[in-house]
Amino acid sequence: MANRQVSLTGIKPTGDLHIGNYFGAIKPALELAEEYDARYFIADYHALNTMKDPRELNRCIREVAAGWLAAGLDPEKVVFYRQSSIPEVFELATMLMAFTPKGLMNRAHAYKAAVQENGERGGDPDAGVNMGLFTYPVLMAADIILFDSDVVPVGKDQVQHIEMAQDIARSVNANYKQPVLKVPRGAIREHVAVVPGLDGRKMSKSYDNAIPLFIPETQLRKLIMRIVTNSQAVEEPKDPGSSQIFLLYKLFASPEEQQSLAARYRAGGMGWGEAKEELFRVVNRELAPLRERFQAIIADPRDLDRILKTGAEKARPIAAATLARFRKAAGIE
Ligand code: TRP
Repeated sequence: MANRQVSLTGIKPTGDLHIGNYFGAIKPALELAEEYDARYFIADYHALNTMKDPRELNRCIREVAAGWLAAGLDPEKVVFYRQSSIPEVFELATMLMAFTPKGLMNRAHAYKAAVQENGERGGDPDAGVNMGLFTYPVLMAADIILFDSDVVPVGKDQVQHIEMAQDIARSVNANYKQPVLKVPRGAIREHVAVVPGLDGRKMSKSYDNAIPLFIPETQLRKLIMRIVTNSQAVEEPKDPGSSQIFLLYKLFASPEEQQSLAARYRAGGMGWGEAKEELFRVVNRELAPLRERFQAIIADPRDLDRILKTGAEKARPIAAATLARFRKAAGIE
């Protein structure tokens, strides 16, 4: 146990968890937890940058926490906590600021995109940009570095953030001429299928095309029936490879089921409505038990609080050790 490498990742609680998060982030992270010492957390202060409604933020925090647990995270095995419960994160972030060139932050994708959009509108380049957004990569570097992370499982959109965390850790080590901080590596989920949304684009909260993980069965069915299809008639043979319904089906169905549905596509005689029924059946088969566990966890807020508190108690001594090492190296003792 002691010599295992550390895997760490966080989810920002800014909306309902959807099946894209499940296949893209939660499931692969839980697989890594079999081999690594896993530290998984809820990045609630990252969410605060955009979420100013307290009720909504609180609801999202609880939903993401319950979502991890419903998906199978075992809090006995994984150190599972809220970022906001670890004050050491913010102390480390402050120290890392001293090693973070402002120019590096100017180049961060999210900040650059905001500035560019403002420019196109002809307004103040920094309109709507708070310091939380500007310094987002430093806080994320602190999340990672604080726990001596070896691997950070993330999606492609986070690659730049991981590189920035590496740059920052390396410049600390270079300054003190010793390995004060562990330099993390990304575990980019290249092989994880892009989960298509209801409209065929990548599933994303921002495209409003997502299938939420925990919606009731009747709503799940309705959403699946809304998937956009072409106007091919029932009798026409269809191509599974270019069908969103089929791409989604593949995530949930066994290889035999996939083969059999593909054959029905190619044979003709099956309409899109029927394909959607097949899809609904396998999606609901996988999500129904998750949904039940989720409802049970959400219904018992005290138990959830206790789990998160225990997680924070396990996390803080690890965090304190990193911080003490850095402070000592820096001459702040
Ligand atoms: N930025 C990540 C996202 O938007 C969330 C996150 C915050 C994170 N801190 C992290 C991910 C540390 C991995 C490691 O998805």
